[in-house]
Amino acid sequence: MFSPFSYEMPTRVEFGRGAAMKTADEVRRLGCSRVLLLSDGGVKGAGLLDGVRKTLDSASVPCELFLDIEPNPKDRNVEAAAEAARTFGADCLVAVGGGSPIDCAKATAIVAAAGGRARDYEGRFKSDIPPLPIIAIPTTAGTASELTFGAVITDTEAKFKFTVKSTQLAPKVALADPEMTATMPKNLTAFTGMDALVHAIEAYTCRVATPFSDAPAITAMELIGKYLRRAWRDGGDMEAREGMLLGSLLAGIAFSHSDVAAVHCLAEALGAMYDAPHGACNSIALPAIMEFSMDACVERYARVASCLGLSFSTPEEGAKKAVEEVKQMARDLELPSISVFGVREEDFEEIAAKSEANSSNPDNPKVLSKADYVHILRKLTSE
Ligand SMILES: [Fe+2]
Repeated sequence: MFSPFSYEMPTRVEFGRGAAMKTADEVRRLGCSRVLLLSDGGVKGAGLLDGVRKTLDSASVPCELFLDIEPNPKDRNVEAAAEAARTFGADCLVAVGGGSPIDCAKATAIVAAAGGRARDYEGRFKSDIPPLPIIAIPTTAGTASELTFGAVITDTEAKFKFTVKSTQLAPKVALADPEMTATMPKNLTAFTGMDALVHAIEAYTCRVATPFSDAPAITAMELIGKYLRRAWRDGGDMEAREGMLLGSLLAGIAFSHSDVAAVHCLAEALGAMYDAPHGACNSIALPAIMEFSMDACVERYARVASCLGLSFSTPEEGAKKAVEEVKQMARDLELPSISVFGVREEDFEEIAAKSEANSSNPDNPKVLSKADYVHILRKLTSE
């Protein structure tokens, strides 16, 4: 028996080297004429905005730049960007960057069009006022925010990451250009690549997986297993960069039509408390959550192992090998351990409560209580 599901992919994806140079054509195609370009200082410093701005300039599309977007984008960034969009009279948002500028653009699209504050749109929403259209150009291979429906924004007062989710917020077009990811430094390649891997693993193993999420998740795991270490070792390896961007896009399709699960619940709680990189938090949480969930998920974890190129003779052996492989991958990519973020024992209760309150917690193969999260935090910090 197969469970009923619905499938929708509102974003058109243009994949290939040089795709980012189609920005002005895409703005026109959307019937738009004034662009707010959202990005951040790191992306600008890497020279990744130059080509995009040139296409807009040569097509005489007026464009204003908004760079005030922090890592783990904050509610204040969204509200300032929405104000900038309104003041400039933008009818289109172009977001160039990793997950932060693109997530910020999604929340900005609805706040600029319909007013209010970012947190007013928490959860799944549908608005009678259409959000501004978004063209997304990823510069990392990880979040897949360029084609997902959700944005994760930090409430700076509550120190809580909330999700804004609607198919109305999916970018109209994703210009997925591997050349835009080629300048990523090693640590960013590692953080974002592990995020993509976790998207694929959680989409494939969580309780709401469907055949339409399994198929892209499986290919994503195969691509990431093959190319992540290569892209990390040699950033100029374009085949590896292409493979990682494809893996990230497919993982994004997978979790948009399934969910993430407890790895993200714990990672988002840690990220919000200590402003730590999302992918690093994911890589710390991944093996611990897999070990916890193991008995509810042996067959699927074994399939994860085979996607990552491992051989084994029983599902139990495969599932254990999958856990060892993700630990090894974190070591090979020189990802940090939890001690780097200064996690304090007196914060355990709060981190655990936030993890349990995450809307994806019930979708983990084995549902975690607050006490389970505390137990995992204790184990991680004593290793
Ligand atoms: Fe993620």
